[in-house]
Amino acid sequence: MHATPLYCAESARRDTAESLAARFALPLVKQRPDSGYWLELGPQRLELVTTGKHGAVYAEFVEGAAKHRREQGGGRGQPVAKAVGLKGAKDLPRIVDATAGLGGDSFVLATLGCEVTMLERSPVAAALLFDALERASVHPDTMDIAARMTLIHANAINWLAEQAELPWEQRPEVVFVDPMFPDTDKKSAAAKKGMQAFQHVIGDDMDSAALLETAITAATGRVVVKRPQRGVPIEGVKPSVVLDGKSTRFDLYVIKALRPQDFVGRD
Ligand SMILES: C[S@@+](CC[C@H](N)C(=O)[O-])C[C@H]1O[C@@H](n2cnc3c(N)ncnc32)[C@H](O)[C@@H]1O
Repeated sequence: MHATPLYCAESARRDTAESLAARFALPLVKQRPDSGYWLELGPQRLELVTTGKHGAVYAEFVEGAAKHRREQGGGRGQPVAKAVGLKGAKDLPRIVDATAGLGGDSFVLATLGCEVTMLERSPVAAALLFDALERASVHPDTMDIAARMTLIHANAINWLAEQAELPWEQRPEVVFVDPMFPDTDKKSAAAKKGMQAFQHVIGDDMDSAALLETAITAATGRVVVKRPQRGVPIEGVKPSVVLDGKSTRFDLYVIKALRPQDFVGRD
């Protein structure tokens, strides 16, 4: 896959563009591309754009859907909160979001008070997330939430493998996994115009089974896999619990409950 270029037409933001390009190894171009996909740093925010076809894609924690979720969200009763074990919990778990994407799930969990470490391997998604986090960290309504969110631009398989070597009490309690799957349900989700662009640039996550196995070795409490309601589970290990929702399902791999026979197809 080609590196996605970064373009900035705003002279006042050139330094920011240079530092984004250096941090995420993005080629900084002097002219706006006339085809394909590129990141564009405008006066307000960083966006993934393309000629004509789709609307811009960006991560957002302050306005729009994030604002609505902050103000009207379902608290600890909402499915994602139940899936990570917040309902009735005395202490909030340390969460690693191994597939942070545009940070939507991490933001919900951080809004509920959890410390969330966000891992993202795609330079494009990581740059969009970084930009949204910077904006959220200076806005009075979101700065406390943003302070609980830490972004690490890394492959979660490598990062979690290192965590698995740490003493038990330093390891994450919950690892959250929401990969981009090459299956039919995801195609309908991708029909949302902007997501097509995101998916085109980032591609499918073909190594989810390895990610799940590594997550299970690193987590001390549970691994939570988010799937479309009728999506296939990640192959390799059978979930201990399945929480069905209207459009989303959560497959839970509860570390204490996993037995050797749950590891399907392993020697
Ligand atoms: C479906 S998106 C996640 C969406 C996210 N839950 C949200 O709310 O915005 C999947 C993301 O996981 C990332 N990803 C997949 N496998 C990864 C890995 N091994 N390490 C780090 N990031 C990974 C992809 O680059 C992609 O951005």
